[in-house]
Amino acid sequence: MSMKKIIAETYEELSRETSQRIAMFIRENPDSLVCFAAGDTPLGTYSELVKMQAAGEVNLSDVYYAGLDEWIGLGENDKGSCYQVMHDHFYNPARIPKERIHVFDGLKDPQISCEQMNEWLAKRGKLGLTLLGIGMNGHLGFNEPNVPQASGAIIVPLDETTKTVSVKYFDKELPVSMGVTLGLSTLLAAREVLLIASGEKKAQLIRNTFNGTKNPANPASMLQGHPRLTLLLDREASGL
Ligand code: F6R
Repeated sequence: MSMKKIIAETYEELSRETSQRIAMFIRENPDSLVCFAAGDTPLGTYSELVKMQAAGEVNLSDVYYAGLDEWIGLGENDKGSCYQVMHDHFYNPARIPKERIHVFDGLKDPQISCEQMNEWLAKRGKLGLTLLGIGMNGHLGFNEPNVPQASGAIIVPLDETTKTVSVKYFDKELPVSMGVTLGLSTLLAAREVLLIASGEKKAQLIRNTFNGTKNPANPASMLQGHPRLTLLLDREASGL
């Protein structure tokens, strides 16, 4: 298998390792299209990238960005929406010009949201790099267990695990049941894939996911065999 595995001692080191890989990609591939996950795990990476930019080590506005996913019904003013997380933790502090970013708007008609995302993807070509997190059910973006592999943006019913875990992102009760996401085929077509995981709670999942067998019930396992896949773990997530 061509998978590379990096094990960092701490979350901070994991964030630095991941940000350095992304910065290298951006320096070497200006004007390419990248796609970064929201969620908790990559937040340290985003703050490292912003620091690297301030130190003159990378220009984060050299590439174009596509949103990965969004909760249908949530918008920029909802704490925990992917829009809010990515703008507050990355696009705004990194001062990425609006013209370089296209994200899903969970308040729009989802069909239209998907069409607009597909237009953006068609204009920018396939993904150069994607930074993904892994859900507790193995989901990538909102490619939930057993969702058929699709190209472009799709509307998906959220899995029970995703709904249960979702409360950690929100500051009030937000009943979410559907999502929009880039499909698995689009993610798998990225030239480079970084998958980041942190903490003991992900250790068993990581072990089950990368056991050599692809299983649509665990979407992240479908990454196996990708020609440029790097698994970035902290010591706790790699424990098993
Ligand atoms: C978020 C996303 C999700 C998360 C995954 C892990 O945009 O695409 O697939 O990456 O649920 O989330 P955390 O990092 O919060 O464990």
